[in-house]
Amino acid sequence: MSGNEPILSIRDLSVFFRGEGAWRPAVAKLSFEVGPRETLAVVGESGSGKSVTALAVMGLLPTANSRIEGVVRLDGRNLSRLSDAGMREVRGDALAMIFQEPMTSLNPVLTIGFQIAEALIYHRGFGRKAAEREALRILERVQVPAARQRLLWRIADLLEEHYEELRVITAVDMGTPVGPNPRLGGEFLHCGLGGEREVERVEP
Ligand SMILES: Nc1ncnc2c1ncn2[C@@H]1O[C@H](COP(=O)(O)OP(=O)(O)OP(=O)(O)O)[C@@H](O)[C@H]1O
Ligand SMILES: [Mg+2]
Repeated sequence: MSGNEPILSIRDLSVFFRGEGAWRPAVAKLSFEVGPRETLAVVGESGSGKSVTALAVMGLLPTANSRIEGVVRLDGRNLSRLSDAGMREVRGDALAMIFQEPMTSLNPVLTIGFQIAEALIYHRGFGRKAAEREALRILERVQVPAARQRLLWRIADLLEEHYEELRVITAVDMGTPVGPNPRLGGEFLHCGLGGEREVERVEP
């Protein structure tokens, strides 16, 4: 594929939710493309469908009450044709979503270090020890204070004063293995520039 081809291409994406006996549109015929190393900001009022768009692309909408129309292509591959297993391979590897709310995005019973290492093991073939070393290197690179200690923490160990730090950690956790590939970090639009700047530093 040539360098000018879009990495992510969305054509006539519509998302409907079923409620009170009818299908209601949350996203209607949305189209956009994102090229290599391009950043696209989707802006809109609350409830306009930004998160739903990202969730639809990631294949994370509840299947029981939602319906998606349109075509989502990643590097030319039609994602709607992928099986659940195929989508799991793509998520957190070629495509990642950085969720808006860090307190509900990380698993509360697992350490932060385990969760960062997990993606490196699953998608990048790291061994456990190497993944832990890499997790430490990444947190230090984005200047998370006391990174070695933070890796051993669970979200319950974090106090309110660590909240912004947790946003950065969450972004690292969800986005790191992805490297230069698309990252649906739109959720960061709500979180101020601090988080976004930190995420940029993770870029290889
Ligand atoms: N699981 C769901 N079931 C039914 N309706 C939903 C579901 N998820 C989202 N919606 C509806 O879809 C619409 C778009 O919501 P979405 O969360 O995408 O908005 P948003 O643009 O991200 O808003 P915000 O700026 O507040 O984050 C809203 O009307 C919302 O109520
Ligand atoms: Mg949203």
